[in-house]
Amino acid sequence: MEDSAPPILELRHFGYTYLEGTPRASEAIRDASFEIRRGERVGIVGATQSGKSTIVDSFAHLLRVKPGQVFYEGRDIAEPGYDRARLRREVGIVFQRPDSQIIEDVVGADVAFGPTAAGLSAAETRERVEESLNTLGLPYPEYRLRYVHALSGGQRRRVAIAGVLAMRTPVLVLDEPMAGLDPRGRRELLELLFRLQDERDLTLIVCSASLTDASLLCDRFVVLDGGTVVMDGPVREVLREVDRLAKLDITLPEPVIGARELRKLFPDFPTDLLTEDELEAEIVKRIGAA
Ligand SMILES: Nc1ncnc2c1ncn2[C@@H]1O[C@H](COP(=O)(O)OP(=O)(O)OP(=O)(O)O)[C@@H](O)[C@H]1O
Ligand SMILES: [Mg+2]
Repeated sequence: MEDSAPPILELRHFGYTYLEGTPRASEAIRDASFEIRRGERVGIVGATQSGKSTIVDSFAHLLRVKPGQVFYEGRDIAEPGYDRARLRREVGIVFQRPDSQIIEDVVGADVAFGPTAAGLSAAETRERVEESLNTLGLPYPEYRLRYVHALSGGQRRRVAIAGVLAMRTPVLVLDEPMAGLDPRGRRELLELLFRLQDERDLTLIVCSASLTDASLLCDRFVVLDGGTVVMDGPVREVLREVDRLAKLDITLPEPVIGARELRKLFPDFPTDLLTEDELEAEIVKRIGAA
């Protein structure tokens, strides 16, 4: 039963050229195909300009997508009459530049924008705003009346995330969510995403040029290079291809960098390591405890 359900999102030979038909045309994505299943945590990773945000924008219906290429729950989103409002209710996107999605001047009003537009009652909206802000570490009583533009970059990113969370969409897409956050902010956001995915059975899609946080958060990586999908598989499987990854200008996680160095001494040293503890265990196996 579960297996016969269509993937929640699917790209089929998706291609996209900005300014198509003009002298400044630039091909951003070429022939990209992959499926995302309900409940998966997928990292779309690749160097800068590799096409990550273009793929995100295709899910948001922000691009003129050609028919037959982008599907949500098996339905072609470019088909005439497709219910775009429903797509917006189901796929929540935190864009790369959070300021671009902040609409209201005041924090509480901004987070309330989505639920209000979706037709929720004032009481329900307030409850969601309160919950979302508290979850993001911006306590509602303290932050609801603050001016968005007086907040730090990291706080504004959290406001943007709170606004999307308040929509309670089954799919959550985050484009470079860790950018501009300090290590503590990153750790908190990572923990929050773990918790949400668990509690709400979210389908989570994270775009990043760094595998550091994404390798802890995701089950699977789709790796882009120059607008094409060059690898697609479970996180550890992709991390085993460390030499290919290193050529792509993607930031590798510390334990993977360490493991790659150790290959000079131990050619069979594994690189599919997610934590410092795993790295240490592999070292101990080879040289014994210090
Ligand atoms: N609005 C646009 N007009 C023209 N070209 C664009 C536009 N947006 C993106 N591009 C081009 O499309 C390609 C892919 O860009 P995209 O932003 O999707 O990559 P990205 O992986 O998200 O990069 P980054 O890591 O810098 O966010 C790049 O060559 C970029 O210059
Ligand atoms: Mg981008």
